[in-house]
Amino acid sequence: MPVDIIHNAVVNGPEIIPGWPYIKAYGPAVLGLAAIKYYFRGSMNTWERDMHGKVYIVTGGTSGLGSELVKELATRGAQIILLVRTIEDNWLEEYVDDLRETTNNFMIYAEQCDLNSLYSVRKFATKWLDNQPPRRLDGILCCAAECLPVGKTRQVTEEGVERQIGINYLAHYHLITLLAPALRVQPGDRDVRVVMATCSSQSLGEVDLEDLLFENKRYNKNKPYLWYGTSKLLMGLFAKEFQKRCDEYERKDKLPCNIKINLVNPGMMRSPSTRRFLSMGTIWGLLLYVLLFPIWYIFFKHPYEGQQSFLFALWAPFLAKMDGGQMISECKVIRPSRKEFKDTELQAAIFDQTEELITKLEKQSAIERKKQEKKNESKKPKEQRLQEAKEKHLAQLKKKQDIHEIPASVEELDSKLGYLRQSIQPDMPLFPESVPGSSTSSKKKKSKAKK
Ligand SMILES: NC(=O)c1ccc[n+]([C@@H]2O[C@H](COP(=O)([O-])OP(=O)(O)OC[C@H]3O[C@@H](n4cnc5c(N)ncnc54)[C@H](OP(=O)(O)O)[C@@H]3O)[C@@H](O)[C@H]2O)c1
Repeated sequence: MPVDIIHNAVVNGPEIIPGWPYIKAYGPAVLGLAAIKYYFRGSMNTWERDMHGKVYIVTGGTSGLGSELVKELATRGAQIILLVRTIEDNWLEEYVDDLRETTNNFMIYAEQCDLNSLYSVRKFATKWLDNQPPRRLDGILCCAAECLPVGKTRQVTEEGVERQIGINYLAHYHLITLLAPALRVQPGDRDVRVVMATCSSQSLGEVDLEDLLFENKRYNKNKPYLWYGTSKLLMGLFAKEFQKRCDEYERKDKLPCNIKINLVNPGMMRSPSTRRFLSMGTIWGLLLYVLLFPIWYIFFKHPYEGQQSFLFALWAPFLAKMDGGQMISECKVIRPSRKEFKDTELQAAIFDQTEELITKLEKQSAIERKKQEKKNESKKPKEQRLQEAKEKHLAQLKKKQDIHEIPASVEELDSKLGYLRQSIQPDMPLFPESVPGSSTSSKKKKSKAKK
């Protein structure tokens, strides 16, 4: 049938094609839009890498780009550890189950690591590092981000840092630096890659060494993207310095550094954070977003298309041989426009200062937590407090007496032995040597006498 139509159109002219006037009128516009859409979908990754047995920690793997990336890696057999705000979430349970089913991969797990809290990041990292022998880790993929819409008041993390800077920069800095020993301990022939999502808005960011986290800057709710851009710029400069420090680290086996940390700009995507940003977090905004959807559809990528540069950063083999700290966009290594990317002194200063700031913030938040605990304690009724104290005391006593628990001190050992002695027979010595006339003690005496 289509062949007939084409044949007739060639022989008798295009007018015989059904609906020709419409095709003539709108065809070029539709074709033009299709071409624009094709252009804005961006480049597609053409590299492949065997993912079986590889282990990746992923932040932001529950939505947008991150969820597409996780699907792609899990389908190819990688083990995925999703870092999520909370694991007590029915939706998350369903999400992981679905992912396991659709990718036919049961090695997908979720661990709590709320990037809104440095304490939560430390708890996750400590748990990971506590594994003996160290766990396999092929990379950390940082896709999580907070992008606040215009018009909202300043929001902060648990430590009181502006939320976008706190989550996008500080928490990822903390996570990667804490997990650095787990990355360094991987065998020298393993291709370990850390990939961090950045954004073009980093060109709007600002570095102020006097006020690195913008703690004293007045938050401009009409320009939240300046804070977002700063978080991404700081993250990029951190990546450069982290790579330098990894390269300088001397491995025990003297092999060269096998860790590469690169930045990926996925381009504008139709993801939940874009929707939230464009709709300004309002119902009216959401309505407008839906009405204008054809525009977003044409000009913005689907997260599947956005993740292509991420896959490129993970799979392109030559990146393992290149210097790290590269910026990748549209499946190509590009040169960042910001001059700060060439300033190694500034990068080192930012790295060190951030480390100090994190230490300070963590100390402050530990004090706050303790205070809060005491406050909560004092709010409880007297009977409840007495009951809890009694239970705590009993639990401690039980632990002290438990002979299966390794004693922490000589006193505890004494107490355990005393308890053991009592439980056998109050006046019976614990060791046979100490019983006068016992066979072992008399044997010893005899051998001593012989000598
Ligand atoms: N969208 C774009 O147009 C665009 C453009 C350039 C760059 N990027 C970058 O690309 C990356 C992915 O963007 P996207 O738009 O696909 O993101 P998205 O769909 O908005 O997803 C953000 C992810 O971050 C997680 N997250 C947020 N706060 C968290 C916290 N406190 N603890 C743990 N996880 C948290 C979210 O978890 P929940 O599911 O729990 O919310 C979610 O999985 C981001 O780094 C973004 O900056 C995006």
